[in-house]
Amino acid sequence: MTALSSVSSSSAFSSFLWCSLKVMSLIHVFAIRFFSLCLQDPETENNPYLGFVYTSFQERATFISHGNTARHAKHFGDGKLATVCGLIAADERRHENAYTKIVEKLFELDPDGAMLAFADMMRKKISMPAHLMYDGQNEHLFDDFSLVAQRTGVYTARDYADIMEHLVDKWNVASIQGISGEAQNAQEYLGSLPPRIRRLEEHAQAKVKKGPKTGSFSWIFNREVALL
Ligand SMILES: [Fe+2]
Repeated sequence: MTALSSVSSSSAFSSFLWCSLKVMSLIHVFAIRFFSLCLQDPETENNPYLGFVYTSFQERATFISHGNTARHAKHFGDGKLATVCGLIAADERRHENAYTKIVEKLFELDPDGAMLAFADMMRKKISMPAHLMYDGQNEHLFDDFSLVAQRTGVYTARDYADIMEHLVDKWNVASIQGISGEAQNAQEYLGSLPPRIRRLEEHAQAKVKKGPKTGSFSWIFNREVALL
């Protein structure tokens, strides 16, 4: 399902780029490649509980990042890109609502299973679907891409902590009772996670500040650009 939503985002971006006279076909090809590479294994082990926890998190992350990209596009005067990103953000929001409702139901019907699945997924950490992207040239492509996303505020370590906290509240993790000892341990772990991630956030911010100031991307013709 995530794959489908990524394909729909890919298709919307692709149409936008195709229609824009300002970009060349190379970028269009990249857009298709990029989103195809997004479809990586999120370590959900073919387990629907893990899958729905993963998608709840990931859909909210893509809603946030597309919304922020839309704001940047508007600010820099590209109204069409802002509209496309805004539409995708609204779609991602709907996907998020659907998946979080499914997990909400899982917590109601099988609180032990849902609690263990949520904790399991958080221990594995949620990687953004594009973390293995590769353009055939830059071995550190996602690191460079992620640096820009963090510095421009498109998607940051703070967003990760916010999403985690949001889901813990949304599924009323702290108030669930009558669960097994193992699930209680998972519940404690989940409750302790948002403040721990916030502490790591400071470390992540410092790392981002120290990162390279310039870099290049094949899809903008390998020109040296500021990694803002
Ligand atoms: Fe989606």
